[in-house]
Amino acid sequence: MRIYENPQKTSENRLAPRSYYIPSGRSEYCLLNGEWRFRYFGRDIDVPDVITEWDTIQVPSCWQLLGYENPNYTNVSYPFPCDLPYVPDDNPCGVYERDFELGKKWGRVYFVFEGVSSCAFIYVNGRYVGFTQGNHLQAEFDLTDFVKEGKNVLCVKVLKWCCGSYLEDQDSFRYNGIFRDCYILQRPEGHIVDVDIIPDGETINVAIDGKATVRIFEGDKLLAERDFSDKFSYSPENPILWNAEKPFLYRVELERDGEIISIKTGLRSIRVSDKFELLINGVSVKLHGVNHHDTSKFRGWCQTDEELRRDLELMKQLNINCVRTSHYPPHPKFIGMCDELGLYVVLETDLESHGFAHRAPRVYLGYDCDTGDWPCTRPEWKNEFVERMMRMVELHKNSPSVFMWSVGNESGYGENQHEMIKSARARDKTRLTHSEDASRTGMIDHPDVYSRMYPSIEMVEGYANDDTIDRPVFLCEYSHAMGNGPGDVWNYSELFDRYPKLIGGCIWEWADHVVTVDGVQKYGGDFEGELTHDGNFCCDGLVFADRTFKAGSLEAKAAYQPIKTSYDDGVLNVYNRLDFTDLDEYDFVIHTDVDGREVWSEKIRLSAPAHTSVNVPVKVIPAECRYGAYVGCELIKDGFTVAHTQHKLDCAVRADDECQEPAQISEDGLDILVSGDGFEYVFSKHYGAFTSIKINGEEQLDGRMKLGVFRAPTDNDRRVKLEWLYVWPSAGECLDRTFNKVYDCEVKDNVIALDGSVAGVSRSPVVKYSLKLSFYKNGRVEFKVDADVREDAFWLPRFGYEFELPASSSDFTYFGRGPLESYSDMCHASRVGLFDSSASKEYVPYVRPQEHGNHVDTKMLRIGKLCFTSSEGFEFNVSQYSIDALHKAEHTDELISDGRVHLRVDYRVSGIGSNSCGPEMLEQYRLDEKKISYSFAFEPAN
Ligand code: GAL
Ligand code: MG
Repeated sequence: MRIYENPQKTSENRLAPRSYYIPSGRSEYCLLNGEWRFRYFGRDIDVPDVITEWDTIQVPSCWQLLGYENPNYTNVSYPFPCDLPYVPDDNPCGVYERDFELGKKWGRVYFVFEGVSSCAFIYVNGRYVGFTQGNHLQAEFDLTDFVKEGKNVLCVKVLKWCCGSYLEDQDSFRYNGIFRDCYILQRPEGHIVDVDIIPDGETINVAIDGKATVRIFEGDKLLAERDFSDKFSYSPENPILWNAEKPFLYRVELERDGEIISIKTGLRSIRVSDKFELLINGVSVKLHGVNHHDTSKFRGWCQTDEELRRDLELMKQLNINCVRTSHYPPHPKFIGMCDELGLYVVLETDLESHGFAHRAPRVYLGYDCDTGDWPCTRPEWKNEFVERMMRMVELHKNSPSVFMWSVGNESGYGENQHEMIKSARARDKTRLTHSEDASRTGMIDHPDVYSRMYPSIEMVEGYANDDTIDRPVFLCEYSHAMGNGPGDVWNYSELFDRYPKLIGGCIWEWADHVVTVDGVQKYGGDFEGELTHDGNFCCDGLVFADRTFKAGSLEAKAAYQPIKTSYDDGVLNVYNRLDFTDLDEYDFVIHTDVDGREVWSEKIRLSAPAHTSVNVPVKVIPAECRYGAYVGCELIKDGFTVAHTQHKLDCAVRADDECQEPAQISEDGLDILVSGDGFEYVFSKHYGAFTSIKINGEEQLDGRMKLGVFRAPTDNDRRVKLEWLYVWPSAGECLDRTFNKVYDCEVKDNVIALDGSVAGVSRSPVVKYSLKLSFYKNGRVEFKVDADVREDAFWLPRFGYEFELPASSSDFTYFGRGPLESYSDMCHASRVGLFDSSASKEYVPYVRPQEHGNHVDTKMLRIGKLCFTSSEGFEFNVSQYSIDALHKAEHTDELISDGRVHLRVDYRVSGIGSNSCGPEMLEQYRLDEKKISYSFAFEPAN
């Protein structure tokens, strides 16, 4: 048996895990990032072999992104046969080599990896040092007996796969190489090894082996300095507690023999209340979280320190207060940044064996752990499971941000996870333990929280009311953020607030995973040689790969925002959702807007301690408006808007002075001609559609108008496509290939009346409708549609009129919900107002092109020389791409504009949801009416 296929021998000479620190003072730290010699082989070779010809490679990096092998993205399925613990005989191998200098050899010399995939054999000066597995876990080796003064040669052989790969089946591109920092340390003989400052409560408890001098700092202020042996406790007189809103850190400095170890710690406690709330320092906290994978737009798993910090800063901007490190420990520095910036961390160890669910040729085996096939139930894997847990716990036990240890993800649940939980608990009694697999399989009393992924709103409410669940309920994954979305985060967040036991959850996931080729973002299936892949399922970020925000990002920001408001009778009630901060630390602006124009505003300082509310009078309430009047407010910190809300004010809507005089209508064969002051319209009786709309002689149409029900499916429309027989575009209603039929069309007085239908190819009509068009002398055209949707039809993507306009009609102004795209369930980040935009500004670069750019709650749209209005409101969309073009393109560079502006004036558009992985969209957001009546009008814009 090869060593790397033996689950009982997953390391050789690797040192026992210890707390994370980089020693300073007399100790030396030498980062080995940078250029190394490199050779890639298609299969494992013996090292040290004489390699005479070398390439060079940058460390850290992923070799698939540097031309050695193609990238491969797979979610559940293993990229090799599921034949535990064996891996393919052709096991590609990368040999890394570099020199490093040791000026003087005076102490103990170590080599540390923060991440190498999948396993590594280390050689120094031609001699074998040791072996390690566990790709996202720190590994340290003692090189003292191998190194000499002056030049040393370090060689690392990395194999693509090892038995540990069975535990590293995370949903991601699969990469290899030394992908995180690695470094050399030289430290005094007899140095401190492990430091234990597990935070709990208001005392700093330090435990080490042996003697040291300890100094405790609050900022620059030295609070205490002592020589001690083994244990030292210190309680600051006026303790400043750590929490995610105010992440205050004390610094503990330990000195022995000139070496200094500096560790930042926080004073905080974690408890569970008798109502099963999560108490941080005694306060019930809701987790507004997100899952974080290490992913870079250009460099795969390698994120620089700056990029990691930036991720956390952006999370803070989105009001996120919790991060789950899915599904492995991040670079240790990331946890330090969470301590510093303030995030509650669910720290998950490197363990996922989801591929076992796909090991037989059935669609999905589920977690059939009772078969004994899964590693989680196999005794020979127990040590490796426990070791993966404890390598994480030991490394990060001192971090105040970490409040929960997770045993991994989607690995089934067996005795081995139970052992992981027991070991973590035995080592650290202060934190909670997490295993979604345990909750799912009914072993709910093993971990400390009940955790589920992607339950529906109804199910979550069920957990809240289920007395047999006697622990906090946490959604380790919810609101799948793929593509245009997520649309449902608001509803979940409301639920978290309603039930004490629901402590919150983490949106799946932070950023899109892509491989950028010639500026185009690629995903699974785009690379030669991918034996199994999962398409664009890796593009499911709350933010784009370059970390720019989309409407869904800001929807999460709104759902997670620190205030909730309600309006009643001249008073705005502002509730402070923060847990530790008074609203008086923010600026607050309140204003009244009429038809999109501000008529009153006031900047005030509110005072409302955490979890309390305050009333603010709305001093100006208009008597009348044309489109709508609203009270709005913003919560601002350092000039940055942290939260905003808006409520409609009750006020009379001024009616238009509508021209009631009918327009002239004449017929010319199949054409109906309508004309009057400055306009000329041609309507085809044959097609039941305008073929020309001229305003002051200028043609406003560049194509026909038609009634449509299709939208380019979003990723969240995916299940609708895949699992229910392609209901929309393909086998279902074939809505991507519809026919518009006009049964008959008549003119009477100033009214055109027609009956028609919309049907997918080979299907009976999905919609039958009648349309009445009334024409007035000023050019006004009123549409009145009455439609019947076929009883057994699936809910519709949308329903409304499509117009093709010339490119010159790109710019537009609207009174509606903007400036972001908005959908019925993804509309909390936008507000109702008066906005200017253009077809190109509406474009959102989703990795796989799809529906985008909708605006709900619209009362007026001025585009080209036309002005659309509806007193009941409509939804609209302006795009430089046709629905068909968006539907057909798989990548952004395949999107082709036909040079027209595509306008939709819709009755309704179905919401977004998060059904790409989450539950079916809530009923209230589906367009599932069987009878539809809708009306709108257009007239020449002045
Ligand atoms: C979950 C899994 C994640 C990811 C997600 C889909 O089941 O835990 O790792 O695969 O689904 O994007
Ligand atoms: Mg998985």
